[in-house]
Amino acid sequence: MAGRLEGKVALISGGATAHKGNVLGIGGAAAWAFAREGAKVVLGDLDDVRGEEAAAQIRESGAEAAFVHLNATLEPNWEKAVAFTLKTFGKLNVVVNCAGTTAIGGVEQTTEKAWDSQLDVHAKGVFLGTKHAIPAMRKSGGGSVVNISSIDGIIGNAHAVAYSTGKGASRIFTKAAAIQYAKENIRVNSVHPGYTDTPLARSAIAELEKDGIPDPRIPRVPLGRLAKAEEIANGILFLASDESSYVTGAELVIDGGMTAQ
Ligand SMILES: NC(=O)c1ccc[n+]([C@@H]2O[C@H](COP(=O)([O-])OP(=O)(O)OC[C@H]3O[C@@H](n4cnc5c(N)ncnc54)[C@H](O)[C@@H]3O)[C@@H](O)[C@H]2O)c1
Repeated sequence: MAGRLEGKVALISGGATAHKGNVLGIGGAAAWAFAREGAKVVLGDLDDVRGEEAAAQIRESGAEAAFVHLNATLEPNWEKAVAFTLKTFGKLNVVVNCAGTTAIGGVEQTTEKAWDSQLDVHAKGVFLGTKHAIPAMRKSGGGSVVNISSIDGIIGNAHAVAYSTGKGASRIFTKAAAIQYAKENIRVNSVHPGYTDTPLARSAIAELEKDGIPDPRIPRVPLGRLAKAEEIANGILFLASDESSYVTGAELVIDGGMTAQ
């Protein structure tokens, strides 16, 4: 039976957290799901060592994968990553804008530097990834852009104000881009994960735990647990595939009921 992404080529920013046996990041889990469903996958990340190793692991599983160095906040890096994808696999059908970092802090606790870096990665990075994917997708007759926002892009997070603002920006950018490119069959959607157990989230929680603050996340979640990255990847896979052919400008919340309260 053909895979759900058979014949498609995908570029995933922040995709280096894909080591089998370790806790997966959301981009890493998406990479494995895409490879399993027949896509050729390019992982783009700042972390060259983990990115190359992850791509090699995916190839060992029998799928096609490659790594390209990508700082998602830099326009020339996106130009190179898209060119690399076209040179390696001949086309581009799917981009997942997943690269991210966190910054804890309310309004007065947030430095200008932290603000700029959060807006850079979560707003500008998503804009640049979309901008440079569009011409290649146009040549393929269409495509799917999946922007990984957050529940913090829908409801305010007073403890991570710059992060929340960046995620809100990527949510509304998604809708503006979806309208602009709908006639060209290029769909643009956002995914809003709730609390997900990933390397990035573990490092943020370690900061809290260092200060003796217990993990505040689980009591807030109606399903009573964190998500696995694979559960977020299932939603990304749907939006990347032709199963979502009538879905654009939408926001897919995957949060264990968190924002239903
Ligand atoms: N984990 C959660 O609870 C959660 C919840 C909602 C949204 N998200 C979002 O999902 C995305 C993935 O998060 P995760 O927790 O799976 O992270 P993760 O553990 O996969 O780590 C993020 C990855 O992004 C890479 N990266 C960081 N800055 C980059 C840049 N400028 N250019 C390229 N790569 C860069 C890192 O090297 C790392 O590999 C992020 O955008 C995050 O904000 C995460």
